Amino acid sequence: MASPLPASVDDTLALLARGRYVADRSLATALFLALKLRRPLFLEGEAGVGKTEIAKVLSETLGRRLVRLQCYEGLDVASAVYEWNYSRQMVEIRLAEAAGERSRESLGSDIYSERFLIRRPLLQALESDAAGSPVLLIDELDRTDEPFEAYLLEVLSDFQITIPELGSIKATEPPLVVITSNRTREIHDALKRRCFYYWVDYPDAVRELEILKVKVPGAGAELSRQIVGFVQKLRKVELFKLPGIAETIDWTEALIQLDQVALDPKAVDDTLGVLLKYQDDIARIRGSEAASLLQQVKNELAAEKRA
Ligand SMILES: Nc1ncnc2c1ncn2[C@@H]1O[C@H](COP(=O)(O)OP(=O)(O)OP(=O)(O)O)[C@@H](O)[C@H]1O
Ligand SMILES: [Mg+2]
Repeated sequence: MASPLPASVDDTLALLARGRYVADRSLATALFLALKLRRPLFLEGEAGVGKTEIAKVLSETLGRRLVRLQCYEGLDVASAVYEWNYSRQMVEIRLAEAAGERSRESLGSDIYSERFLIRRPLLQALESDAAGSPVLLIDELDRTDEPFEAYLLEVLSDFQITIPELGSIKATEPPLVVITSNRTREIHDALKRRCFYYWVDYPDAVRELEILKVKVPGAGAELSRQIVGFVQKLRKVELFKLPGIAETIDWTEALIQLDQVALDPKAVDDTLGVLLKYQDDIARIRGSEAASLLQQVKNELAAEKRA
């Protein structure tokens, strides 16, 4: 069954918590307003900070269908919106010829009917079902090219798609739209203006610890604290690619598999590839740098305990 949209920021926080998503108040506020005012939520941020997850959690906790449009270079209308099923149309034409009964006009209108239409994500997102309008996730928009972005702008303005052979299809109720971008290029102001914008940042230590509690409940308190302390320090080092929340979660799971109850320099060195994905970054951290960061973390945690 579909749940109603959240009625307040607190409601939104509770909704995300139900989907095991640990959000701070500012994100919950942006999401609440986007849902309330029926505007797309535009989430920008580094990789692995929980942008895509928000759409998934929304669909799950609100009980609505998730329609996902994964963007890539060269994405076109045929893959994103609709396409005619040419092979089935051909078969229909052959059958009509063989039967020799239909006029050209009636055949023409017949093969351009909904029966031969292949609906792609943007068109699917205009259809409501019993649970209400779906959640439309437009993921990694920065990977598409600008003409597609311009097309999208039109769709997001009136939630209407025109198919020349069929006419216009309009959403009775607009979908709940979440757009994400890793900012490999800037998205046009015109598109951003239609959305609520939110920059998803790396979490602070308190929130990251909270995320670990929710996502990897099997991890001991000591190990979790050390992991978060280490990752937070790592994010201050100038690296080619900083670890996201996804990496923190993966690293914790890896360390549990290795029966680590606490971090030690060897365990860190042996598992760095879970946290860092570039050889230059790994080479820079492995060994003395890792050991020194770990020592700092342990000192700080010991000082916290004493205080
Ligand atoms: N605030 C959070 N609470 C709970 N889990 C989170 C949170 N943020 C991220 N995660 C977890 O981190 C993982 C990565 O999140 P997600 O895939 O949404 O990142 P992303 O920002 O979309 O990254 P990318 O840009 O690489 O696609 C997911 O498995 C998600 O469960
Ligand atoms: Mg993503």
